Amino acid sequence: MAYKILCLGLLCVVFAYYIHTPMPENFEEPWKIGLMDAAMKMTSLTGLLFENIGLMKYEELFYSLTSLLLTKAISDENITVTDTNFSGIPVRLYLPKRKSERQRPAVIFLHGGAFVLGSCKLEAYDFLNRLVANQLDAVVVGADYRLAPQYHFPVSLEDSIFAVKFFLQDKIPVKYDVDPTRICISGDSSGGMLATQVTQLLQNDPGFKGKIKAQALIYPGLQFLDTLMPFHVEYEHDPILPRDIAIKLGSLYMTKDKALPQAMWKNQHMPQGSRHLFKFVNWSAFLPEKYKKNHVYTEPVTGQFNASYLEILDSRLSPLLVHDSELQNLQLTYILTCEHDILRDDGLIYVTRLRNVGVQVNHDHIEDGVRGALAFTPPFNLRLGFRIRDKYIRWLEKNL
Ligand SMILES: *[C@@H]1O[C@H](CO)[C@@H](O)[C@H](O)[C@H]1NC(C)=O
Ligand SMILES: *[C@@H]1O[C@H](CO)[C@@H](O)[C@H](O)[C@H]1NC(C)=O
Ligand SMILES: *[C@@H]1O[C@H](CO)[C@@H](O)[C@H](O)[C@H]1NC(C)=O
Ligand SMILES: *[C@@H]1O[C@H](CO)[C@@H](O)[C@H](O)[C@H]1NC(C)=O
Repeated sequence: MAYKILCLGLLCVVFAYYIHTPMPENFEEPWKIGLMDAAMKMTSLTGLLFENIGLMKYEELFYSLTSLLLTKAISDENITVTDTNFSGIPVRLYLPKRKSERQRPAVIFLHGGAFVLGSCKLEAYDFLNRLVANQLDAVVVGADYRLAPQYHFPVSLEDSIFAVKFFLQDKIPVKYDVDPTRICISGDSSGGMLATQVTQLLQNDPGFKGKIKAQALIYPGLQFLDTLMPFHVEYEHDPILPRDIAIKLGSLYMTKDKALPQAMWKNQHMPQGSRHLFKFVNWSAFLPEKYKKNHVYTEPVTGQFNASYLEILDSRLSPLLVHDSELQNLQLTYILTCEHDILRDDGLIYVTRLRNVGVQVNHDHIEDGVRGALAFTPPFNLRLGFRIRDKYIRWLEKNL
């Protein structure tokens, strides 16, 4: 008992310490962001503690906490909500109730969570997808791909492709009265990476080419090669998702081997002979001057860590690794990036690469945006999250 009280006391002290970390001045509701930042760091610390005493794995604590925010499929006066599956992949389906004069657009949404957390059933995503269905009079599908570390790459991607292909079969738009020329793939964070990959792969697949009208990528992660881009150096102590937690969780998509995150932390995780890939993620060539500032480009170190995880070289893991020729036929793209987001530079690089080959890109950059804000709408009601949501919905209204 005394031991527990001592632990609790210590955690309170650490929490108080974290909550006093100063926030950048331009933040809206800085106290709320401070609170979430402290909660994140506390969860990480407690996760480490639990892992060390053998209680549960680090990521399991994150998983259990987020699972508290899962919702049931509840229909309302406008939308019929059902949990079903597309050939075995669990999906939540949002169908508008009102009669429509014309066929509806459709959005398939892939949620974020670093490939180890999250679900389209989380309150924030349920709220978002319901709103999209209502405001656009659209059919919306949230897909729950399987997660790491139980399922490593490429299971999440394969599940996402499977769910999207299921929806694109000729008979499905007919069944839901969807206009097959108005289908968008969306996702945030790791879900943004999956949306990017699904779109790239299907656009280069003769059976599916042209079947997706648009993609909307909200602060997507797009590569695992370089973990020391200008953002990481400039905002090393930025709130919400510090680099160490991001690497620890993100590496689980490939392996449970702890040597990988250690090498990634030093940016020394790339195997011998992988140097030719750096040109695809070379921020010095693709970031606008505004973000390059006076940072000096240094390549990731190769050959220090000869991993057996050759997935790291796979463009299906890091969608920035494809040649321009595979990008140039991509459809209309929306990319939203946040200044205070560990994935900022990934998104900015993709904006440049797509524009360089003539793809039409609408880009919003949120100067006071922090990591994962969209997931902090209900129950946290972070105003920044609502702003991002509204930008995304307005773009869909105009372009889908
Ligand atoms: C249903 O739609 C109407 C009109 O768009 C709106 O005013 C109302 O708030 C919606 N109800 C819910 C539960 O979203
Ligand atoms: C998928 O849905 C079908 C029909 O709704 C149902 O019969 C089947 O059991 C479901 N499969 C899984 C794996 O949940
Ligand atoms: C990265 O880009 C810079 C130009 O901005 C170039 O000088 C350098 O050689 C490039 N490095 C790699 C590995 O592509
Ligand atoms: C990795 O492999 C390369 C080439 O096979 C070798 O030169 C290098 O010493 C190896 N590095 C380590 C840390 O084993």
